[in-house]
Amino acid sequence: MATGISEMSFHATTRLYAQHFCTASPFISPLRKNAKANQRRSLHARSWGISEKTHNFQNINLSQPFQSGKKFTECHCQLASDIANLSHDEANSTWVQDAVNKVSQVLGSTNGKGAIEFENGSAKHGEDPTLVMPEPAKDLQPKKTRGSSLVEDEAWRLLVESMVYYCGGPVGTIAANDPLDSNKLNYDQVFIRDFIPSGIAFLLKGEYEIVRNFILHTLQLQSWEKTMDCHSPGQGLMPASFKVRTVPLDGDENATEEVLDPDFGEAAIGRVAPVDSGLWWIILLRAYGKCSGDLSVQERIDVQTGIKMILKLCLADGFDMFPTLLVTDGSCMIDRRMGIHGHPLEIQALFYSALMCAREMLAPEDGSADLIRALNNRLIALSFHIREYYWVDMKKLNEIYRYKTEEYSYDAVNKFNIYPDQIPPWLVEWMPSKGGFLIGNLQPAHMDFRFFSLGNLWSIVSSLATTQQSHAILDLIETKWSDLVAQMPLKICYPALEGQEWRIITGSDPKNTPWSYHNGGSWPTLLWQLTVACIKMNRPEIAERALEIAEKRLSIDKWPEYYDTKSARFIGKQARLYQTWSIAGYLVAKLLLEKPDLAKTLWSEEDAEILNALNVMVDPTNPRRKRGKVLKKTYIV
Ligand code: GLC
Repeated sequence: MATGISEMSFHATTRLYAQHFCTASPFISPLRKNAKANQRRSLHARSWGISEKTHNFQNINLSQPFQSGKKFTECHCQLASDIANLSHDEANSTWVQDAVNKVSQVLGSTNGKGAIEFENGSAKHGEDPTLVMPEPAKDLQPKKTRGSSLVEDEAWRLLVESMVYYCGGPVGTIAANDPLDSNKLNYDQVFIRDFIPSGIAFLLKGEYEIVRNFILHTLQLQSWEKTMDCHSPGQGLMPASFKVRTVPLDGDENATEEVLDPDFGEAAIGRVAPVDSGLWWIILLRAYGKCSGDLSVQERIDVQTGIKMILKLCLADGFDMFPTLLVTDGSCMIDRRMGIHGHPLEIQALFYSALMCAREMLAPEDGSADLIRALNNRLIALSFHIREYYWVDMKKLNEIYRYKTEEYSYDAVNKFNIYPDQIPPWLVEWMPSKGGFLIGNLQPAHMDFRFFSLGNLWSIVSSLATTQQSHAILDLIETKWSDLVAQMPLKICYPALEGQEWRIITGSDPKNTPWSYHNGGSWPTLLWQLTVACIKMNRPEIAERALEIAEKRLSIDKWPEYYDTKSARFIGKQARLYQTWSIAGYLVAKLLLEKPDLAKTLWSEEDAEILNALNVMVDPTNPRRKRGKVLKKTYIV
């Protein structure tokens, strides 16, 4: 799509220009091409003259930067002493007030303009008309829930403490916040995927600003210079994580600047680009609009461009025969070698979900017609492919067991030439007569029969799975409770790779030993996805049961990242403590079970048009069915 590409590069340039404009204001340093490598790659902000300890500032007025020919961005400064005054006044507040005040004080300028004032326990908009701040829904206003448990209160406190600030404004939450951990690696960064439950917890509480800031700042990182050994990935890539660094300013020993330093996988263990980050970003953007009612963020030109850049990267033509996204091992939550390269379910479910969300948000305009058509075609093809080929239950397993192989024809039953011997012995015993699931991966002559929780749950949430399949997945979780939930929800995958398989597939990874970490470990953060899926299918009691189990241990165990052993008895061997997405996952589950109606903002309903197209595709009387003629290619991306 020639016009699309030039349009995108135009907007990418404008976005970089916007950054430059911001940093070139009197208070923020210009982008300096000759700065040190990490500074060059980072978003810059600057305090001046005096060390950062005595000054603080904000440049958070990012609203409507490219519209009406107005000034793009404004950078206001705020003295730390003023913040100190505000902090003093807060001394008697409840913790929720503290949290909201904290957010308010860093967002507000010292004269009160643009600040969210805290009055009688509710956030109130300040006077600055340029600052777009949605009114929190009445029943979402931050308040201490009467009857909230001690565990819940502790979780909120920890979540607030994990907040990360940039230029005085909250922009995310740190991955793990254990003060006693001396080897933090990159757990002191804001991970895009880890922030999703944090962001949703804030949204559900009516705290919108941190999510808005996160969306806009990570958007700026999207078009950042990123290379590994002279090679650059596609432009729409979102980072896996970022860190706020305070660095000395070149040529001025008394000054420092804050920079946002993203990691696109160039520093990550294994050097894997995070395919899921951009997909989660789109999903969170849609949730922000739904929860806050503020559609102005998704309508911004730069945000629209950001969505298109992610889609362009995902929808680009390649060598693939399958509509699924082809990715390398470790490009999602499981971010190290676990044999999930190819077309892993988790990525496909997030891809489908992001396409659904993007379709809702893309402004209908001439320039995006091709993209929207491409997106619609992909939704149909992807949905057919996953529903048809990834699904296993007793009936399907028995079909595979009796497969003929080496079929050469357009109408082969065993299209991927799967040898029945591939059916693993554990699955023959494990598959319940009621229930089923979507397998982990599908490649030529290869089905990865492992059960991956996130992919299955998000297939329910996004309506990638049919209603029947969605119920069957929940049936399986219920039936296999002692394997998948046991003493802590939820197994990341089942079963673990052991022995020779573990050696070959993980490369003898000592962190991924059987029933540990990604290899059959149990991750409390998955509670929130389980909860959304259960509420969507009107079976909240399953999530309630899981939450009850988690609630008994999480706080006592200091909110571990993951649990080990077959039945999740131990805190994970190398699990971080005070892991933010364990805390946020618990909170989202708790909030949603209290107010199930709110979960609607997070899922996508089955789309009638897609369903209709699928019916046409599987209709045996349809003459166009042969050789996939239904999905005529009508677009160029
Ligand atoms: C681990 C997880 C990854 C997560 C990161 C930060 O690497 O595998 O999914 O984002 O920790 O918590």
